Amino acid sequence: MTSPMAMQAVENVMLNVINSDVKTLRDASHHILEAGGKRVRPRLLMAAYEALGGTDIEYAAPVAGAVELVHTASVVHDDINDHGVVRRGRPSVNAIWGRTFALLTGDFLFTKVYELMAPYKDLNIVLAEATVALVEGETLQASAVKEKNFTRQVYYEIIARKTAALFKAAGILGARLANAEEKVVEALGNFGFNVGLAFQIVDDVLDLTADSVQLGKTSGIDLAQGRGYAAAYATNGEANGGLAVAEAVEVEDDPMKTIKQKLLKGDAIAEAHLQAEQLVASAVAYLDVLPESEGKRQLIELANLVVNRDH
Ligand code: IPE
Ligand code: IPE
Ligand code: MG
Ligand code: MG
Repeated sequence: MTSPMAMQAVENVMLNVINSDVKTLRDASHHILEAGGKRVRPRLLMAAYEALGGTDIEYAAPVAGAVELVHTASVVHDDINDHGVVRRGRPSVNAIWGRTFALLTGDFLFTKVYELMAPYKDLNIVLAEATVALVEGETLQASAVKEKNFTRQVYYEIIARKTAALFKAAGILGARLANAEEKVVEALGNFGFNVGLAFQIVDDVLDLTADSVQLGKTSGIDLAQGRGYAAAYATNGEANGGLAVAEAVEVEDDPMKTIKQKLLKGDAIAEAHLQAEQLVASAVAYLDVLPESEGKRQLIELANLVVNRDH
């Protein structure tokens, strides 16, 4: 189902809905959407739908598009907050149009989700809850950085909400669209949740190990801004560890390089990868309730791709 046809249907839905007679909103939305992106979340939704016997692409595509629009809106806003100037291999919306229009473009994309989801009754609740969790996660993260309380435990609470909740919703929505029984819906939700946690951990490692060109987005800013797996690890779980990072930033000549080298030399990266692999293994185990199918194979492939990626 994550056939080119299914994904093309998702693209069409998104491109159609972002139309506006306000040029800046139209241009900025096209700019960020046409830059591509991995489309991991709508892929997960469509693969879940197929794995559970769904065949009506046109029925499922708007919901997959809505999930991707929530994600896209979140990265447009994220680049304002994180001072990201590159996204999806292009200058970020804020880099081109400035903060005000980036804020409004994100609002526009979030709001367009209402339009796509209008016909889907109770499924709105699933996506709304995930979107609330995403905002809560981003807020908890900003607070933890501010309060210098970026511990490993806080890190997991943050990524569960800011990233894994939307992956979970993608699994649940795909299953619900296919009219799966509740036990199966739950399994797909758990699958998505674990894949989402792994996805964010790998993303945080890549922020440390890969450059902006490879990632297509501004790299190295998580640790610099006192967050992410590296920051949580660097603090060694101490409540005031964020302070340690902040102080190191102040006193060292090239503090980021020092912390980064320390992390790269130690076992932090290997530990992160191991953790991500374990999460993916747990995710895949939830699929045991499903019969073998092309959709199930796609879900497993997607889960493995999340950990074995270089951008
Ligand atoms: C980036 O997500 C934000 C995170 C949750 C890490 P993606 O890596 O899925 O971004 P795109 O959509 O491929 O650009
Ligand atoms: C992106 O988070 C936004 C959400 C997960 C809601 P990050 O700041 O961790 O991701 P990148 O690295 O900029 O894509
Ligand atoms: Mg961020
Ligand atoms: Mg960011």
